[in-house]
Amino acid sequence: MNETAKNRILWAIVAVLLIVIGALVYKFLVAGSTAKGDDGRTMIVLEPAERALVLREMRGFVAGLQQITVGLAGDDMKAVAAASRDLGAGKAHDVPAGLMGKLPLEFKKLAFATHGGFDTLATDADAGIPSRRALEHLSGILSNCVACHSLYQFGTPPPK
Ligand code: HEC
Repeated sequence: MNETAKNRILWAIVAVLLIVIGALVYKFLVAGSTAKGDDGRTMIVLEPAERALVLREMRGFVAGLQQITVGLAGDDMKAVAAASRDLGAGKAHDVPAGLMGKLPLEFKKLAFATHGGFDTLATDADAGIPSRRALEHLSGILSNCVACHSLYQFGTPPPK
């Protein structure tokens, strides 16, 4: 085999590898592990333990929101800040890499926007913004909850 032929084969191997890497990146970063949902939404297919972990985090959102509303009602912006910070990116459950790879990009964007929104609300509440402003901010954060729930449901793989 001459040099040119060898080079051609090498480039072909490189091209195939790049395509495989591209496909993997797409699968893990963008597409995730999804199926057609039973109610028109996209189903994110998770193992039962993974589903339990994300649903626990969701219930944490509701518990945190309850505390935020107590703070807002009492004009206690320090309490609002503390409860918001608990829902921010820093306190978000460490999502295992395997689970992260199953979440579609749009889901991840909405999740980051939600955690980030609570971080900003915490900072603003600490700075003493009026509760009306905090409420406006909160309604913006809640639109992420609504958007994500209208797009996705969680499911588990069919039993083998
Ligand atoms: C990035 C997407 C996303 C965001 C953002 C999101 N959720 Fe969810 N949530 C889901 C999905 C998907 C489910 C499962 C729905 C299903 O399977 O029908 C869920 C389920 C829930 C549940 C049910 C928990 C259980 O134990 O069954 C609650 C409560 C909930 N979310 C509250 C919230 C609140 C409050 C917010 C905003 C502060 C929020 N979620 C933000 C995707 C999201």
